[in-house]
Amino acid sequence: MQKSVPVIAIDGPSGVGKGTLCQALAQHLGWHLLDSGAIYRVLGLYVSEKQIAFDDEETIAGCALQLPLSFETTANGVAVLLDGQNVSQMIRTQEVAMFASKIAILSKVRQALLQRQRDFQQAPGLIADGRDMGSVIFPDAPVKIFLDASAQARAERRMKQLQEKAVCVKFGEILQEIIERDDRDRNRAVAPLKPAVDALVIDSTSLNIDEVFEKALSYIQQQLS
Ligand code: DC
Repeated sequence: MQKSVPVIAIDGPSGVGKGTLCQALAQHLGWHLLDSGAIYRVLGLYVSEKQIAFDDEETIAGCALQLPLSFETTANGVAVLLDGQNVSQMIRTQEVAMFASKIAILSKVRQALLQRQRDFQQAPGLIADGRDMGSVIFPDAPVKIFLDASAQARAERRMKQLQEKAVCVKFGEILQEIIERDDRDRNRAVAPLKPAVDALVIDSTSLNIDEVFEKALSYIQQQLS
């Protein structure tokens, strides 16, 4: 890790569009990208494949330290590899999201993943996407943004994405899932989802992605100048 390398920490609840914003910013600035949620998802998948109980904190923390995870840049974006196997699609299911949110409440697991995340801080800069990027992982980040939107708006966006993929889902179920994950992420004892004190909160409920990008970029330029 190079301490002087700037980090833009972008936190927020699930389904708020952080991934899209972070990818666009990383591409625009030519900076590295840390998708910390993918790390929790891969660990969740690994734990389930190894049939380890989701509350076995010591064992899971041990797995976190040795997780054979890598990210590979391909023509179609960044591929997530677990033990050399491409799990990019597999980790995006609702089932794996639930595994991730279960192991994410374990403090020793979060501790074990700390350095792995900090190692992404490489020149010329890092866009860090997660829940605790500004509050815990990169507390000295010169730019912190907390992207928020109502649960209703996030459920509507998710519904649209799934419909575009011809996946048949009920709106009520999506909304319920978002509310439940929010509740777990915001109310856990360790590193709960909340804006860092020095974060700019952007409420994207009534903004489109271009408007969010412009707002974020102008704030970043102002903070880094
Ligand atoms: O951002 P995501 O949906 O891919 O995250 C998956 C889960 O991992 C989510 O329930 C919250 C958790 N997570 C976390 O606790 N801390 C992070 N920095 C990133 C994700």
